[in-house]
Amino acid sequence: MKSRLWWKEAVVYQIYPRSFYDSNSDGEGDLPGITAKLEYVKALGVDAIWLSPFYTSPNKDGGYDVANPRDVDPRFGNLTDAKILISRAHELGLRVLADIVPNHFSDQHVWFQEALKAEPNSPARNRFHFYDARPDGTPPNNWISLFGGPAWTQTLDGQYYLHLFDSSQPDLNWESSEVNDDFEKTLRFWLDLGVDGFRIDVAHGLVKENILENHPDPQGLSNALRLDVDMDSEVRNNLLATVPFFDRQGVHEIYRRWRKLFDSYGDRDVMAVAEAWVHPPVNATRYVRADELHQVFNFDLLTAPFDGAFLFEVIDRSIELNATVGALPTWALSNHDSPRVASRIGELESRALALFVFALPGSAYVYAGQELGLPDGELHDNDRQDPSFFRSKGEIKGRDGARVPLPWTGESSPFGFSAGDPWLPMSKSWKVFTVENENSDPESVLNLYRNALALRSQHLVNTGDLIWLESAVHGAKNANLLSFRRGSITVAMNLSSQVQEIDLSGKVLVQSYGKIEIANGKLHLPALSSIWCLS
Ligand code: NOJ
Repeated sequence: MKSRLWWKEAVVYQIYPRSFYDSNSDGEGDLPGITAKLEYVKALGVDAIWLSPFYTSPNKDGGYDVANPRDVDPRFGNLTDAKILISRAHELGLRVLADIVPNHFSDQHVWFQEALKAEPNSPARNRFHFYDARPDGTPPNNWISLFGGPAWTQTLDGQYYLHLFDSSQPDLNWESSEVNDDFEKTLRFWLDLGVDGFRIDVAHGLVKENILENHPDPQGLSNALRLDVDMDSEVRNNLLATVPFFDRQGVHEIYRRWRKLFDSYGDRDVMAVAEAWVHPPVNATRYVRADELHQVFNFDLLTAPFDGAFLFEVIDRSIELNATVGALPTWALSNHDSPRVASRIGELESRALALFVFALPGSAYVYAGQELGLPDGELHDNDRQDPSFFRSKGEIKGRDGARVPLPWTGESSPFGFSAGDPWLPMSKSWKVFTVENENSDPESVLNLYRNALALRSQHLVNTGDLIWLESAVHGAKNANLLSFRRGSITVAMNLSSQVQEIDLSGKVLVQSYGKIEIANGKLHLPALSSIWCLS
């Protein structure tokens, strides 16, 4: 495969295995289904795939509750299927990232089952966070789970164990050498099977501090950590500065050790990207210091409004902060945990933003279905499966809307995804979003992504920094125009709902939407659209 540091400006396509393509008609996607569609993925123009977890799991949290991290859950196939998938991806020139979940196991993991049967303070319990109840019988502290409800569950003998997520996801104790050794074994297991790197789940959460102390405002903190709760940004930031279970210094020691392990694979160029929701933003750069991980997700664009000044600020900040440690940023508009970008900011806006973002320096992550302009699925409460929906007693609707299976062909559900009933219902209106339908439409989001990604690799990858031309910041002459130059490409995005006349010359390479006209030396950029020009 080609040159070193393949990941620096890679486009990575995230696949949620359960929702991608079902090869055995049970209504759920699987590994052979992914293998069957790898040519489609390759033709998008991406460099790598990231597979959300497919390990043995009771699937209480979409597979992020791992019962055996070194095997494949039967719902997705088996280890041979994983090997076939990896080798087919490699034949096509696609790298493969596995999703590693080091903050917690499933309660069905053999260690946790052992811990439940073991004595308080035993080595088996020491792999997790087991503590006695307080004298009044309440949990050891007042932390709230990220999925709602207490972060502690009591066992039959009265001790409590910690779970930042669902009660079926006991947190691991990273002070235990057995935990450290076991994860190194898991990393090697998948690397030896052929994967090219990892996405690290809750990378900022492994080390906890002050575990026997109450937080002064657990409910405030819990709201501050939720993307769906609006809050004054100063209040939120102040609360986020007090999280006792995220972004502790100790996590970096773990990644320094992992980096040595990755580097021991030499010219395989193993890489890892951290899922680290940290505050303030500068803290994210610690994860990508030269002796730690290779990338850290930047989640700003998952929640950003379609607003010029806001977008300028978060994009510029991310580029600058990463540069302080010699890293490049990452960009993501959607993932399996957040509303799909087309639903969140609108159809035209999401096309414009994707085209704009693909031209930025760094690595772009595309969540499967995003390339079809797919909106969130319309679900009834009785369809929902996300543990956050159940733990919050319905107050948090959860993330299922972004996890509805992909529509491939045909006029009605399940749109070629499966020959069975899809595990989440697919709406009738999705016939316009099928791959089949979009293939034949030159104006489709699918064809926009294919064109843009081909042009990106031809004209933009490895062309270095950008120079802002229009920044929409306070005092800028136009608050609804963002533009920059990178290499020989000029990129502009019109954020207003009116056509804008702009001074832009050169050959139009790609536009996100509408008809570009040039009159009196001015380029007429359609409302809510972006453009790349070559000069
Ligand atoms: C982040 C994952 O992306 C999400 O889906 C999961 O629920 C939590 N981590 C817990 O593993």
